[in-house]
Amino acid sequence: MAAHLLAWGLLAATTVTGQQYDSGTRDADAFSYVQPRNTTILGPYGHSPAVYPSPNATGSGGWETALVQAQDFVAQLSLDEKADMVTGQFGPCVGNIVAIPRLNFSGLCLQDGPLSIRVADYASVFPAGVTVASTWDRQVLYERGFAMGQEFKAKGAHVALSPVAGPLGRSAYSGRNWEGFAADPYLTGVAMEHTIQGHQDAGVQATAKHFIGNEQETQRNPTFNSSGTVTDIIQEAVSSNIDDRTIHEIYLWPFANAARAKVASFMCSYQRLNGSYACENSKALNGLLKEELGFQGYVMSDWGGTHSGVASIESGLDMDMPGGLGSYGTNVKAGSFFGGNVTRAVTNGTLDESRLDDMIVRIMTPYYWLNQDQDFPSVDPSSADINTFSPRSSWLREFNLTGERSRDVRGDHGPIIRRHAAEATILLKNKHNALPLKAPKTIAVFGNDAGEVVTGPLNQDVFEYGTLAAGGGSGTGRFTYLVSPLSAISARAQQTGTKLVQNWLNNTQIVSSNVSDLLAIPTPPEACLVFLKTWAEEAADREHLNVDFNGAEVVESVAAFCNNTIVVTHSSGINELPFANHPNVTAILAAHYPGQESGNSIVDVLYGDVNPSGHLPYTIARNGSDYNAPPTTAVSTTGRYDWQSWFTERLEIDYRYFDAHNIPVLYEFGFGLSYTTFNLSNIAIEPLVDSIPSAPESLPIQPGGNPALWEPLYNVSVSVTNSGPVQGAAVPQLYVTFPDSTPSGTPPRQLRGFDKVLLDKGESRTVSFELMRRDLSYWDIVSQEWRIPEGEFVVRVGFSSRDLREVVRVTPVSS
Ligand SMILES: *[C@@H]1O[C@H](CO)[C@@H](O)[C@H](O)[C@H]1NC(C)=O
Ligand SMILES: *[C@@H]1O[C@H](CO)[C@@H](O)[C@H](O)[C@H]1NC(C)=O
Ligand SMILES: *[C@@H]1O[C@H](CO)[C@@H](O)[C@H](O)[C@H]1NC(C)=O
Ligand SMILES: *[C@@H]1O[C@H](CO)[C@@H](O)[C@H](O)[C@H]1NC(C)=O
Ligand SMILES: *[C@@H]1O[C@H](CO)[C@@H](O)[C@H](O)[C@H]1NC(C)=O
Ligand SMILES: *[C@@H]1O[C@H](CO)[C@@H](O)[C@H](O)[C@H]1NC(C)=O
Ligand SMILES: *[C@@H]1O[C@H](CO)[C@@H](O)[C@H](O)[C@H]1NC(C)=O
Ligand SMILES: *[C@@H]1O[C@H](CO)[C@@H](O)[C@H](O)[C@H]1NC(C)=O
Ligand SMILES: *[C@@H]1O[C@H](CO)[C@@H](O)[C@H](O)[C@H]1NC(C)=O
Ligand SMILES: *[C@@H]1O[C@H](CO)[C@@H](O)[C@H](O)[C@H]1NC(C)=O
Ligand SMILES: *[C@@H]1O[C@H](CO)[C@@H](O)[C@H](O)[C@H]1NC(C)=O
Ligand SMILES: *[C@@H]1O[C@H](CO)[C@@H](O)[C@H](O)[C@H]1NC(C)=O
Repeated sequence: MAAHLLAWGLLAATTVTGQQYDSGTRDADAFSYVQPRNTTILGPYGHSPAVYPSPNATGSGGWETALVQAQDFVAQLSLDEKADMVTGQFGPCVGNIVAIPRLNFSGLCLQDGPLSIRVADYASVFPAGVTVASTWDRQVLYERGFAMGQEFKAKGAHVALSPVAGPLGRSAYSGRNWEGFAADPYLTGVAMEHTIQGHQDAGVQATAKHFIGNEQETQRNPTFNSSGTVTDIIQEAVSSNIDDRTIHEIYLWPFANAARAKVASFMCSYQRLNGSYACENSKALNGLLKEELGFQGYVMSDWGGTHSGVASIESGLDMDMPGGLGSYGTNVKAGSFFGGNVTRAVTNGTLDESRLDDMIVRIMTPYYWLNQDQDFPSVDPSSADINTFSPRSSWLREFNLTGERSRDVRGDHGPIIRRHAAEATILLKNKHNALPLKAPKTIAVFGNDAGEVVTGPLNQDVFEYGTLAAGGGSGTGRFTYLVSPLSAISARAQQTGTKLVQNWLNNTQIVSSNVSDLLAIPTPPEACLVFLKTWAEEAADREHLNVDFNGAEVVESVAAFCNNTIVVTHSSGINELPFANHPNVTAILAAHYPGQESGNSIVDVLYGDVNPSGHLPYTIARNGSDYNAPPTTAVSTTGRYDWQSWFTERLEIDYRYFDAHNIPVLYEFGFGLSYTTFNLSNIAIEPLVDSIPSAPESLPIQPGGNPALWEPLYNVSVSVTNSGPVQGAAVPQLYVTFPDSTPSGTPPRQLRGFDKVLLDKGESRTVSFELMRRDLSYWDIVSQEWRIPEGEFVVRVGFSSRDLREVVRVTPVSS
């Protein structure tokens, strides 16, 4: 890892004393992991206020009837059954709550992940979060969420461990950014909401994860002593130290959308937050989530993210997953901080049984709300055979696996996946109208990302040969098939009478050769297509932002010979693109991780069957070193609590940073070209309410928080025209500049609206954006409220964060 990254880990900790540190306040029970009371390691951000007790669910927001059913259920449970309801067991799914046949409760099956039901055969692999976010299309987000939900349900999974809003994308290097959506809370919030609605309309519980501050993989878990006991920790996980305003305006924001969408569950994250583990941080779970956001469902731990029993329970954790102890919770035989410990703690009076009851009410309310007690499909027994995380030999309990085996749940999702990934493809460059391809007489295909994957369906390691259509880790998918670019291009070439001169898939060979000699033809092909890939996976941060396997050199080598070089990237996200201004590189397409129809999706775009309308969900800087928030990668000391990640850039992540410091970029957030062109005109803003006080009316909390924050205050309208030669979809984007009276550190422009509008050649349509109270507010740390500042707001609409064409001003609060 580069030296400049190291520097971020070496930031000196500031000494503060006397601050209250919540993790120390509930460690009276001997079985709970004893937390440090030493506040020396905590800096200016570093303390977590104690927020107790954990609020009871009320079912508010539409779950009232289901809550009563859940309470009836809980009333029939023995204490041992109650402990079972909150503690995972190894079994057929990646997470399992055992059945209680006496009550006709067949248990809960929890399955990964955010782009596919992973531990399953005959299931689809959908485009990744970053890919689908690039569509900026609410309908696509919902359709994908619904189709995924159908597959989870048909396989007998009650709970989908999807979608992801953390990581949000603070660091370009984070290994899991692609699982989530965009390096912007607004776009991610919309994506969360529509994905969750899709999953849950299909009858499956969605899980908003990873809550919260999970912005790097490095040291996300503690370092355990391999010669010690399973809970013997040498160094604790990294602590994300986030100030109150930043957590509200950036990291909590999309999770508020999730709570408002009535997400069934939240998964707390691995790392520490202000010094205290996220799964036992009472400020985060009791305070932010259950009180402020009015969340009515349950909080489950990330796998092995539980580090105490009663302390976690009182801090708001409702379910321990997967139920084992040790590194990643992989040792179920060693017991659980929950399980039998919960029974004992209730029996001896340490834990109030009403809290345990609330945990189960929270777990069972969404279950009844989604009618999962009625005719829910059984767990597909094939999952048990495929599950390498908890193979049968690890099971301690019985599971009823009598249902139909190896159900094919893919339905008609292939064409949907193809369409979504095509719509997500971002055209970054298109010189001399290189694209769409007309009917080239000759093309050549280059790069190790173009061809067939030969290493099997599991997609868990960097492989040299074969196209990359998903990242690695628990968020990947198990491919039943994968259409490679090369096979799709070959099929298309046959139709159009194009000669596919040759294909060269060995990057080492391309880089070290004279491509003219390689091809051994006198004139270059009419088009040279170069396919590049960038791997990223859970549990490891990226070490650089280059494309893998010398991809940039491959492009140079091809472009030295071919003056119509078209580059396609299959990547987890941010890449340095040193060839972007090469005169012979005529087109660049960022296709991210497209899922199983990859080749078909890209061919649709290359040949113009689909006019690209993807827009970047992050910024591509000129140089990798321009990014401001790399992960903390090492600490120089060996102290147990020394891993600290200071979020000192505060609100300035991604374009907020580049804009605040006027740093030129290669391709800005929101950027994306089309085969047509668009204009904007006639912006107007109209108030929707009579008077706008600075503070919201104090209404009873609903899921999503104070409903007043979601009240539309203004309608902004603008006319969008297709001024070019073909039909295409525009993505008008609305950015707000807050008045000068807003506390310092407010980014110059923040996304607060977008739409996707399909227009025929010459067609105009008026689009409108509703600005809600939250959109015009900042988090005031003194009053602990969202407030609209006094003064003039500037509202701009354009086609990227730096292509802002229409402007209108408004002053909401009278002084
Ligand atoms: C209650 O039980 C828990 C779990 O075994 C134990 O850690 C704790 O010390 C007990 N407390 C009392 C007061 O007996
Ligand atoms: C607190 O932690 C700091 C840094 O690790 C250490 O130097 C100091 O001795 C600790 N203080 C106590 C009271 O343990
Ligand atoms: C983190 O620390 C800051 C500064 O002390 C505090 O304002 C904020 O509430 C804390 N957040 C959490 C979740 O502990
Ligand atoms: C939750 O409800 C129980 C009664 O069911 C009550 O005893 C307990 O005090 C309530 N807890 C909170 C935090 O309101
Ligand atoms: C369980 O289901 C059976 C058959 O549908 C029904 O007769 C019985 O009453 C149910 N038991 C409970 C406790 O709901
Ligand atoms: C690891 O555990 C062993 C056995 O308990 C102990 O001897 C050793 O000192 C521990 N190592 C560290 C780094 O804590
Ligand atoms: C209770 O928790 C401890 C860790 O503190 C663990 O070693 C033990 O196995 C647990 N007991 C049960 C019954 O799970
Ligand atoms: C096992 O599941 C099947 C449905 O797949 C159900 O008919 C049967 O009653 C269950 N058996 C037990 C013992 O729960
Ligand atoms: C790729 O090309 C390099 C350099 O020509 C060669 O050493 C290597 O064996 C080739 N790899 C394969 C799989 O053919
Ligand atoms: C590549 O080979 C061609 C034909 O053999 C030759 O004309 C050209 O100069 C070579 N280019 C380089 C950079 O060596
Ligand atoms: C662009 O391609 C032409 C061949 O068409 C070649 O002569 C030229 O050197 C290339 N330019 C660069 C900068 O590589
Ligand atoms: C690319 O090279 C071909 C000859 O190989 C030439 O006909 C064409 O005009 C060149 N295109 C550009 C944009 O320079």
